[in-house]
Order: sequence, then structure tokens, then C-alpha cells
Amino acid sequence: MRLILHDLPTVRTVETISAMQRLARQWQMQRVPVSFVPTMGCLHSGHLSLIQCARRIIGPRGKVVVSVYVNPTQFGPAEDYANYPHNLFQDRKLCSRAGVDVLFVPSDAEMYPAAFSTWVVEESLTRGMEGASRPTHFRGVATVVAKLFNIVLPTAAVFGAKDFQQAALIQKMTRELNFPIKIVVSPIVRERDGLAFSSRNRYLTKAQRSRATVLWRAIQQARASLGARPIPAARLKEELRALVEAESGVRLDYIEFFDPQTLAPAARVSRGTHIALAVFIGRTRLIDNAAL
Ligand code: PAJ
Repeated sequence: MRLILHDLPTVRTVETISAMQRLARQWQMQRVPVSFVPTMGCLHSGHLSLIQCARRIIGPRGKVVVSVYVNPTQFGPAEDYANYPHNLFQDRKLCSRAGVDVLFVPSDAEMYPAAFSTWVVEESLTRGMEGASRPTHFRGVATVVAKLFNIVLPTAAVFGAKDFQQAALIQKMTRELNFPIKIVVSPIVRERDGLAFSSRNRYLTKAQRSRATVLWRAIQQARASLGARPIPAARLKEELRALVEAESGVRLDYIEFFDPQTLAPAARVSRGTHIALAVFIGRTRLIDNAAL
């Protein structure tokens, strides 16, 4: 077999917390700015757009760090932690091509040593939507992101609007816990038929994949239903529920209309109101959101 040299992953990979912190402190002393993209790996076009954004905001002199860590504490007991896809070889190749300076891949043993018991809990923004459906999810997210911030010491960090509530949580946590980090939220990247890129899309069969466009169709229908005057959220919810549940094998988890700043539920929907929804397609849970 011939090796194609330019395809070999060359990105510098750091696997221990101490090595990553040492490097981060060095950069800090040299006043080199660092832009950070936390991920759970199996990188797709959505992640790559975050990496491009990270490079853009930090400039050619800055460093871009990507972490790949499937964080066990953000999965519920009946969720897909055990099946979550891994593809580190491909991730390294993509990061190398995207000009990432360091790929940080910590171990469970180091991230969560035995008897780990310190958590970061946000108690307002994370109550509804994903927080209501996945009660321990955001505690896991906030804790792991706070740990990663303390390890990577970034100047800026980039999160996707795909996980709208997560991005709001991280912005609030960063402000309230005084992390000196600029949080940037980057737009959702979608496939041609409107389905947002997600590592979980690979769980879908061909038939399920085509039904999955119902998320985007629901958003489009919500937009189409808006007129000059605000409409009751409950009415629009029922209309969209019917659209979603008309697809066989698709079950609605929630649809919410809310204020994009406070995440407070909206009783009436008008232009600028935000929609978020979660559906089960078979056993795969997918989420989406948009400004209306
Ligand atoms: P993961 O699902 O791998 O996503 C990593 C980042 O990529 C998140 O900020 C997410 O919003 C963003 N992203 C995913 N799909 C996207 C898309 N189609 N368009 C734009 N951005 C997209 O989110 C997590 O991991 C974890 O919760 C993490 C923050 C890493 C903490 O464990």
C-alpha cells in the first residue's frame, strides 16, 4: 500500500492535563492569544466552521486548540454514551488540514478521577427545554467546559448556535464565574436539505434520514405562519406538533418559543421570537433551533 504523505495527520496531539496546562502557560507568558473549540469529536462541517471562526478571530499569530472528549457526565443513564461515535484518526486529519495547532484529547481517568464531586450548576437558563428533558445534562456540560477553560486557558472560545441553550449557559457561566474569555457563538451549518450537521445523524437509517428534515420543515412552517400580528404560542405549537407527528417513527419531545436573550418562554410568537425543538427519530434524539 502506498502512503499518501499529505494525508497523514500531523496535528500536535496532547493527551495529559499537565502537558496542556504547561503549553497554555507558556503561550500566556509569551502573550500568544489562544482560540478554543471544545468538541466531542467525530468532526463534521459544523465543527469545522467553528474551527475556521476560531482562526479568524485569533489571527495567524494566535493558536487554535480543539478538544475531543466525549464527556460522560453530560449523558443521562438511558442515553447514547456507550454508542457515541469516535473517529480520532479522521479528527486528526481534519484538524491538521484546518490548521489547528493543538488537539487536546484528555482521558476519563484524568478528567474524572475516582470520587470526583465538584460540579458547576447554573440554575436559571438551564431549567427548560434540554434541561427539562435531560436533567443532569447541563451540569455535566458546565463542569467539563469550566475544567477545559482552566486547562486550555484560552483568550476566546467558540460554540455553535446549534446548541442554543448550551451557548447561552456558557456565556452566562463565563460572565458569572469571571473567566477572562471571549465567548463567540457561530451560526448553524446545515446540509442542503436543511438538516443541521450533527454527530448523531450517523445513527439514522436512510429512511429515518429523509424523515429528519421534519425539524427544518417545522421551522419553515413556523416562519410561514407568522403574520403581521403576534400569534399564540400554544396554537403554533399544536400546528407544528401535527406536522412532526405526521411522520411515521418520529416523536416530538418538545417545541418551545422563547426570548433569545433570556430564554424565557413566549406566550405569543412574533418576528424575532426564537424556536427550539427536539424530536426522537426511532431512538435517535435530534435538536434544532432558529430565529423566526
Ligand atoms: P459537540 O456536540 O461535539 O459540539 C461541539 C460544538 O460544535 C458545539 O459548540 C456545537 O454547538 C457545535 N456544533 C455542532 N453541530 C453544529 C452545526 N451543525 N453547526 C454549527 N455548530 C455546530 O456540544 C458539545 O459537543 C459538548 O456539549 C461540549 C461543548 C464539547 C462539552 O462536552
